[in-house]
Amino acid sequence: MAKIGKTVFFCKECGYESAKFMGQCPACRAWNTFVEAPAAKKPRQAGRVDLAGGRRGADHAPKRLSEIDTEAEVRLSTGYGELDLVLGGGIVPASLILVGGDPGIGKSTLLLQVSGKLAAAGHSVLYISGEESLRQIKLRADRLGTFSDELRFLAETDLDTVAEVLKEEKPEVVIIDSIQTMSREDVNGAPGSVSQVRESTSVLLQLAKGLGITIFIVGHVTKDGQVAGPRMLEHMVDVVLYFEGDRQAAYRILRGIKNRFGSTNEIGVFEMAGNGLREVPNPSEYLISEVSAQASGSVITAAIEGNRPIMMEIQALIFRTGFGIPRRTAAGTDYNRVNLLMAVLEKRLGLKLSDCDAYVNIAGGLRVAEPSLDLGIVMAVVSSYKDISLPEKTLVFGEVGLTGEVRAVSQPAARVKEALKLGFARCIVPRGNLKALKEISGIEIVGVRDLREAVACFEKRGG
Ligand code: TYD
Ligand code: MG
Repeated sequence: MAKIGKTVFFCKECGYESAKFMGQCPACRAWNTFVEAPAAKKPRQAGRVDLAGGRRGADHAPKRLSEIDTEAEVRLSTGYGELDLVLGGGIVPASLILVGGDPGIGKSTLLLQVSGKLAAAGHSVLYISGEESLRQIKLRADRLGTFSDELRFLAETDLDTVAEVLKEEKPEVVIIDSIQTMSREDVNGAPGSVSQVRESTSVLLQLAKGLGITIFIVGHVTKDGQVAGPRMLEHMVDVVLYFEGDRQAAYRILRGIKNRFGSTNEIGVFEMAGNGLREVPNPSEYLISEVSAQASGSVITAAIEGNRPIMMEIQALIFRTGFGIPRRTAAGTDYNRVNLLMAVLEKRLGLKLSDCDAYVNIAGGLRVAEPSLDLGIVMAVVSSYKDISLPEKTLVFGEVGLTGEVRAVSQPAARVKEALKLGFARCIVPRGNLKALKEISGIEIVGVRDLREAVACFEKRGG
């Protein structure tokens, strides 16, 4: 076989394939992501592994829905409620789960702890690491606690060896840490290249489905550099989870991006401590624990993430700009939305925001883009601009329209009940939501129709 064959170009981000080089990927719109790689030698054979011999058999006969047995659909609990929630109620056997995230965010730690829990519950688990030696894994495991003997380890980067081991051992759950270190000898390209990563994933997919093994794949997110990012695998796997957060801060958020077996907008919250990750089952409490009472520019709001309300603090810092052009940033929320809301404030309430620098931030590293945050953002901006604050223990939510009207949002009762649970005294809500909140007692509910009424809530306090 010729060594130098045809080459094609791949997008490192999404795996888009093209015969010629392109500056921008037409599929995912990323710039400068094209790399040259040899074309697969036998495209139709690529990614095939021999699982059970012949291709055809009773299993390959087309079936009616009524003939498909679903009774065996029992989900495994990972031992972590937050992870089970993001997975849609636990692990579906024989699924392929991608756990993506920046290097050092805690993917290996999370999966090692999950392996420990699964093994302790009597499941056979195999942790395959291509990044760390067995000694390094043991050192990490020693920090995390004691592990059951059901959990075994393998340091390996050759995917054909991995496939052999899986066929022999048939563990229930396998961790591949990470996909960028795995490679097959007969595939061109270095480990981490687009062709290797794609090939490895398709082999793992067949192993998972063919042998009934649940496989967790770790994928590093890479902004630049030579390795392919996990985004190009998203369409091949059943579940995509991203582990995110500020590496300096202790909290980590596990977010479902894709889930063939459940809702995708659930999040799980963890905290990184000296002895590993700890679940944070009540994120609201955690996210607003550091709110400094009555500081100006700080407002507490509640968003719905998945099926649960999460309370968070919106902070704004507004001051007269020192240069000609005002600077604006929005961290954790939609920049354009913040600009729009500031324009509404300027027009409807006459605030001179166009000569001010504005920094808006959702504290805690969360990223939320929900219209119900509007009123909270607006109130935080006004609070900082006028240097006034809301009374302590006040929750604010509502959508703001272009004419300055405050519009009703979904699930108001869930948000108010969360505030009640955390001992809040008062909620400022859209007037249109009042009807849905009639039944709730024990908390003062103020309905506002427009921005003017909302801002009057500051004055009421007389300060
Ligand atoms: P790791 O799981 O190795 O990240 P990834 O696999 O995503 O690259 O986590 C690495 C970071 O976590 C590292 O900076 C140290 C920190 N850490 C703790 O703070 N406590 C712990 O108990 C462990 C195991 C790691
Ligand atoms: Mg790691």
